[in-house]
Amino acid sequence: MSDPARELSRLLAERFQDAGELDTTFASDAHVRMAAHVSIRDWADRPLPRGMLDTLAAIALSSPTKSDMQSRDILVVTDPQRKAGLAALIAPDPWIAAAPALLVFCGNHRRQHQVADWRGVAFANEHLDWFFNAAVDASIVLGSFIVAAEAAGLGCCPISQIRNRAEAVSAFLELPERVFPVAGLAVGWPAGEGRISPRLPLSLTVHADGYQDAGDGATRATIDGYDQWRHARQPYRRQRRVRDLGTAGFYGWSEDKARQYSVSERADFGAYIRARGFKLD
Ligand SMILES: Cc1cc2nc3c(=O)[nH]c(=O)nc-3n(C[C@H](O)[C@H](O)[C@H](O)COP(=O)(O)O)c2cc1C
Repeated sequence: MSDPARELSRLLAERFQDAGELDTTFASDAHVRMAAHVSIRDWADRPLPRGMLDTLAAIALSSPTKSDMQSRDILVVTDPQRKAGLAALIAPDPWIAAAPALLVFCGNHRRQHQVADWRGVAFANEHLDWFFNAAVDASIVLGSFIVAAEAAGLGCCPISQIRNRAEAVSAFLELPERVFPVAGLAVGWPAGEGRISPRLPLSLTVHADGYQDAGDGATRATIDGYDQWRHARQPYRRQRRVRDLGTAGFYGWSEDKARQYSVSERADFGAYIRARGFKLD
């Protein structure tokens, strides 16, 4: 990369409408790669060595972990039959079935219970925070895996849809009690470059020295501005829930997210997690 600082500025200006003042003088190639992140759902016909995935998993598992608990695991599914079976359970999306590898990032508190039993010590943490720790640990590893994979030239797309049928996926993967899927990840060599997806303005999402609430009116104006800025670059190709909610004259990010979550999603996930052996109080 010829000039990482300039490239980083260019990428951040594509991502954020208010990136103009950011200092990029310290930029390295690693920062440029991270800022260039795009989710990939289109795969090149190129073999993906299993050994590479295992090494990337090891790199990802080198990330920080709450209290050194290491309460997260990665399932790497590359066997064509197993992969097809898993993809069929997740969603009908062809890019999932076509991915050379499907990974499942799981929270795992099974080991902690085993350790407590083996040491003859009572386990006194059956509550929501305990579940949350494993979910956070798994999410950190997911993010690290994506960064590591992209640094190797691979493309990825996380898959929360894996939780749509969490029970069936767990049975298929033979997940034991207290092990639960946080997200899937499709991995392969990208067929194209993908497009940078614009994010909310930094003025809304980065807070100096405490939460800065601009108030409802100002926040709405900022989000309206983001909707317009984003629409000018990357208009949505289709509107959600047209039959129920009609066709919007202007369809931006906030309309899309409002419509997306006007339908209940995975309302049974709490019951599934409780059935896995967690208490969420
Ligand atoms: C935890 C998580 C779950 C996701 N689940 C899905 C999914 O089920 N299907 C999908 O197409 N994209 C999924 N994504 C990808 C997001 O849609 C994507 O990150 C977002 O649109 C921003 O695009 P970008 O990653 O290219 O910047 C997921 C992302 C995350 C972090």
